[in-house]
Amino acid sequence: MDTVEEFYNSGGGLIVDPACATEKILLYWKAEEELLDEAIEEGVTLLDVGSGRGKHLKLLSPRLKKGIGIDVSKPLLNAANLGLAGIYNVAVIEANVKEMPFADGSFDYTLCMFNTLGNILDTEKALKEMARVTKKKIVITSYLPGSLEERKKFYGQCGWAITSTDEDCDRVHTREGFVSWRIEKEWLEESLKELGFNTRFRGLTDIAYACIAEKA
Ligand SMILES: C[S@@+](CC[C@H](N)C(=O)[O-])C[C@H]1O[C@@H](n2cnc3c(N)ncnc32)[C@H](O)[C@@H]1O
Repeated sequence: MDTVEEFYNSGGGLIVDPACATEKILLYWKAEEELLDEAIEEGVTLLDVGSGRGKHLKLLSPRLKKGIGIDVSKPLLNAANLGLAGIYNVAVIEANVKEMPFADGSFDYTLCMFNTLGNILDTEKALKEMARVTKKKIVITSYLPGSLEERKKFYGQCGWAITSTDEDCDRVHTREGFVSWRIEKEWLEESLKELGFNTRFRGLTDIAYACIAEKA
């Protein structure tokens, strides 16, 4: 387990706690839900990478054939299991996106929401794995340039101490072991093209965007 994964296994779950979120982060979350409500059709199978408390699985469960969430954080997997109790077409399992226990093309859709990809140190490997298991579409959301101050405010509200930031995609390091950066649209477009996906982008709020990638 790397430092960010260890971080998520301890106090990192605060990142999905609405009590810590700024107004702009709450708007980001709302815009993600509106996007998924529009983009995900009835009767599909779906993987949620870094499923956290399972809120997107819960939201989409009435329309899914089957939904699986993967996460490395035991506390968040426990929270998701509680929140998803009694919903029988979705489940969460402990797994790392860098090596997922699924056959090629296992899911119609793969989600990677709330800048989860910008927390995974081996981003290329994670994206390659997501492409491998996806039959139709990948939905990824991340931050826009100019969002750094808002992110710093948000991490401060989570109680984390920023030790450094650098210009490489507005990368933030905290004393607690958290590392987070913005995924560049150009990098996503190029990487997903190499993996056989065509991309389109959509603004979510003034700090966030979504990438919808469709298998070519
Ligand atoms: C920013 S949170 C987003 C949670 C959720 N998708 C949401 O939108 O509320 C990132 C999530 O990814 C998980 N995560 C981090 N690294 C991971 C990895 N390598 N494999 C699987 N999950 C990971 C964290 O534990 C955390 O739940």
